[in-house]
Amino acid sequence: MESLKGKGAVITGASRGIGKAISTALAREGMNLVLAARGRGEINELCAHLMEAYSVRAFPVVCDVSKQADLERLAMEAVSKLGRVDALINNAGVSSQHLFHKQPLEDIQKLMQTNFFGYVMLTRLLINHMVENGGGSIVNVVSGSTLVDPPPKTFIVYSSLKWALRAFTKGLFWEMRDYNIKVTSLLPGVTDTSLTGNLDPATIEPSRLMTTEAIERAVVFALTVPRNVCPLEISVINQQTPWKMPVIPYKQEHPK
Ligand SMILES: NC(=O)c1ccc[n+]([C@@H]2O[C@H](COP(=O)([O-])OP(=O)(O)OC[C@H]3O[C@@H](n4cnc5c(N)ncnc54)[C@H](OP(=O)(O)O)[C@@H]3O)[C@@H](O)[C@H]2O)c1
Repeated sequence: MESLKGKGAVITGASRGIGKAISTALAREGMNLVLAARGRGEINELCAHLMEAYSVRAFPVVCDVSKQADLERLAMEAVSKLGRVDALINNAGVSSQHLFHKQPLEDIQKLMQTNFFGYVMLTRLLINHMVENGGGSIVNVVSGSTLVDPPPKTFIVYSSLKWALRAFTKGLFWEMRDYNIKVTSLLPGVTDTSLTGNLDPATIEPSRLMTTEAIERAVVFALTVPRNVCPLEISVINQQTPWKMPVIPYKQEHPK
């Protein structure tokens, strides 16, 4: 297993939920971090805590991943603070649960810009740095909802953008494998975070919610596999969810 100690990682959406858990797990492994989110207070606090607890370097960068100028600044700051970015964890995402014909127009824009544009653009802005350095790892936090076909009702924009992201990630693996760049889609099931906290309670069953523990371990796994291996897709799905039923457990009539 390759050691992560002293290596550099950028994590978006690091202030809460899955991103915070991944940040903490990577700091525990000794990685130096650039942590991005829109809110300043939480990432400042998290960086201070991780530096104190794990003796790593951690830099907060306020960034809205839906804005290209912010992403350009994040990429520049990441390279200048870390020297070398070994891992990019694209995680910042938002949710919006509505029947499509009732979905607020601004939610559609926000989903597209955050959950797809943000991932693809930040990857583009950092990937040549990895090419020049002779390698790196990119983990895109996608969603277990892409295992449900057709996409779950009231989540079709969210879920279809995650499908697109999963396809993008797979294609990128194929393009980048000869550059020693590993590209992984991580597909979490329904996890106890503020994102699910904001969903309609009828759509999530508390006993089925996962904690972030297995997800953060999956990221460490993705970053430490042997040199000639790429974990292309990792699904971390709720044990109680029957494989063929919707991952997000609410009533949905599938075609027979
Ligand atoms: N929770 C689940 O069940 C679940 C399941 C499958 C996939 N996922 C995916 O996992 C990822 C993380 O979700 P989560 O559940 O941890 O959500 P969360 O608890 O709501 O946290 C979202 C994080 O993203 C940041 N963020 C949101 N919009 C942003 C923007 N425009 N620019 C920069 N940062 C932004 C938030 O910080 P600020 O508000 O300060 O910006 C926060 O740090 C998302 O991509 C989500 O789709 C979650």
